[in-house]
Amino acid sequence: MSESDVDAVLAIEQRAYPFPWTRGNFKDCLAAGYRCEVAEQDGNLVAYSVLSSGAGEGHVLNCCVAPAHQGRGIGRELMRRMMADAKAFGIATLFLEVRPSNRRAIDLYEHLGFEAIGLRRGYYPAADGREDALVMRRQL
Ligand SMILES: CC(C)(COP(=O)(O)OP(=O)(O)OC[C@H]1O[C@@H](n2cnc3c(N)ncnc32)[C@H](O)[C@@H]1OP(=O)(O)O)[C@@H](O)C(=O)NCCC(=O)NCCS
Repeated sequence: MSESDVDAVLAIEQRAYPFPWTRGNFKDCLAAGYRCEVAEQDGNLVAYSVLSSGAGEGHVLNCCVAPAHQGRGIGRELMRRMMADAKAFGIATLFLEVRPSNRRAIDLYEHLGFEAIGLRRGYYPAADGREDALVMRRQL
């Protein structure tokens, strides 16, 4: 992902999430040197991921497929690549947070070997207040 991708990324983000990241969030991730990847199909940006790392640990901060392209294996492929890259960088453990209501994402992470290790109470904004985050971990 480069700065010039942020408009297209933001357009997907706003369609895919009820509480989307802002332009500033993506710019901050690029400026911080996080591993920000995009996937294209026929020249169109259709998915992206953001991974931060430090002290041998990686954190999947975002993994998103454009709604019209979901359910075709792109999310799985994006996650597999992120896991392979993380391992190649020497990251031993990957973490992520996910809304317990996001069954599709949890299924994907479980199929990829992530296990639930805890809950962060009231981590996410939600329509009726706050929603917990399920914390998941995968040893690489
Ligand atoms: C979660 C997300 C990344 C999955 O990507 P995707 O490309 O749609 O998923 P894939 O086609 O790779 O499918 C991977 C797994 O997801 C699940 N899945 C995919 N489509 C599904 C559907 N229509 N219904 C239920 N589960 C589904 C399945 O477990 C599937 O594994 P399987 O096909 O091996 O059984 C995508 O739906 C998305 O971007 N959602 C909105 C943003 C989001 O919530 N991101 C995660 C934040 S933590």
